[in-house]
Amino acid sequence: MDQFDVVIVGAGLAGLRAAIACKDHKVAVITKVYPTRSHSGAAQGGIAASLGNATEDDWKAHMFDTVKGSDYLGDQDAIEILVKEAPSLIYEFEHMGAAFSRTQEGKIAQRPFGGHSNPRSCYAADWTGHTLLHTLWEQCVKHGVQFYPEYHALALAVEDNICRGLVAYDIHTGNLRTFHSRAVMIATGGYGRAFKITSNAGANTGDGLHLALRAGLPLQDMEFVQFHPTGFKGLGILVTEGARGEGAYLKNKDGDRFMDWYAPGKMELAPRDVISRAIQQEVFDGRGFPGDCVHLDLTHLGAAKIEERLPQITDLSVSFVGVDPRKDPIPIQPTAHYSMGGIPTTKEGQVFADEQGTVVQGLYAAGECACVSVHGANRLGTNSLLEAALFGRRAGEAIHTFLKETGEQSLPDFPEGLEAEVATEIDDLLEAPGPENAMALRQELQAEMSDKCGVFRSQKYLEECLAKIKELQVRFHTIGLKDKGKAFNTELTEAFETRNLLEFAELIVQGALAREESRGAHARSDFPKRDDDGWLKHTVAFRTDKGLKLRYKSVVIGDYEPQERKY
Ligand code: FUM
Repeated sequence: MDQFDVVIVGAGLAGLRAAIACKDHKVAVITKVYPTRSHSGAAQGGIAASLGNATEDDWKAHMFDTVKGSDYLGDQDAIEILVKEAPSLIYEFEHMGAAFSRTQEGKIAQRPFGGHSNPRSCYAADWTGHTLLHTLWEQCVKHGVQFYPEYHALALAVEDNICRGLVAYDIHTGNLRTFHSRAVMIATGGYGRAFKITSNAGANTGDGLHLALRAGLPLQDMEFVQFHPTGFKGLGILVTEGARGEGAYLKNKDGDRFMDWYAPGKMELAPRDVISRAIQQEVFDGRGFPGDCVHLDLTHLGAAKIEERLPQITDLSVSFVGVDPRKDPIPIQPTAHYSMGGIPTTKEGQVFADEQGTVVQGLYAAGECACVSVHGANRLGTNSLLEAALFGRRAGEAIHTFLKETGEQSLPDFPEGLEAEVATEIDDLLEAPGPENAMALRQELQAEMSDKCGVFRSQKYLEECLAKIKELQVRFHTIGLKDKGKAFNTELTEAFETRNLLEFAELIVQGALAREESRGAHARSDFPKRDDDGWLKHTVAFRTDKGLKLRYKSVVIGDYEPQERKY
């Protein structure tokens, strides 16, 4: 059994920034993929902060935009921290050497993004996530942070509300490894792979959510899934909102810039929930192109600007859909991109055990797998990199303080039998005769979720979707693996992932069925209005022996009382 002060699960922006804050302690970062392949690196268009480099700006404007964007479900005390601390985070990245794009005067360049009243997205062309991920990685290497790549975390050791480490599977050797520690931080990122059309990497399968649920902990606001308006048709790969920030148009098959009908004040820079619904409506009304898509037209921007500001999506477009955006419009459709819900935490990243405010000692979470909640029902673009790095930093600093306070005490005992329990589960999976195939079940789930729990939802389709998930959960008990080997048994790790997807997808659908209103990214065609009297509250979902249980807790409202959301 290896002993550490803190074990961080995940090596994206949240995990790496927390690791830097904990560099004076014995820290282990375990990650399913090599750190520089973490999905934070796929973020393209920018990171928000009210630097005011392009036009005048301040944190209050950023705050109001974020609260309004969240459809008033974001907790305003957490949002205030996000927007006030954002500039310091950007300068910290700059001082670490992040190569931001620059204005003519040499300041950090800032471009417009949807739902933001000012240009406040700091960017590095359309490689922003990649740039920031590598910047943090370099710092971790400099500080000698210990990494365990290709480890899949399988079970948290939580007893008496105290976290004592975790059990992980070493993908390389097929052996289990126990990490005994005073603190654990979950930073496993997004989980869009429950959907067929998604911008998320293959690794984004909600492994951190499973850790929480398995330990009897709740998940919050899982019904709120963001559909980014511009994924490549049929594939879902991200085409950055930065394209629209630079002036690209959305057009239907008749050549209309249809956003004029849906958000005349913001056009292509309305928030994502509004634009995704508009695209879907155009398709429903027969004004889409074949393949249920519309066009993103950059051609009027000119080749020079496209090549300077949007080199990655130019390359991706040529490679994946055979369209050169300098010459032709890109066929796009909404794609599952971001999950507003996740593991509920305090503003210092401590994980809540319930909706009453009890926290689990030594357990932290930050980034997309967590729900603090700054995005409420709909996140604004570029607030995600911000949230991951900023709340990663805050959680890391809180862990550092916790370790300083408890460092003299002996480690809390590791629960006897946890590793053996996990080993038995793996043996059962390896020996199971079949006939079902985990990957096939996953594909059925993804198709169902994209079809029936997408941009628009209704009771009928959500009930069908839930029934399908329950059927798939039962069928999962009869999967069989062809690969019985130990080293790099990808069939086994895919089985873990499929179990996780089936588990949290049920929470998304149950939460969506229960929430009989439309708010932010959750659009019920049978309940088209927001209902503040009934539903201005967070969902807190628990897995119990009798199935899922939904409870609710209040939203933190500050200076901004809910009002009608118009763009
Ligand atoms: O469109 C984008 O570049 C995505 C940014 C984000 O999700 O924040």
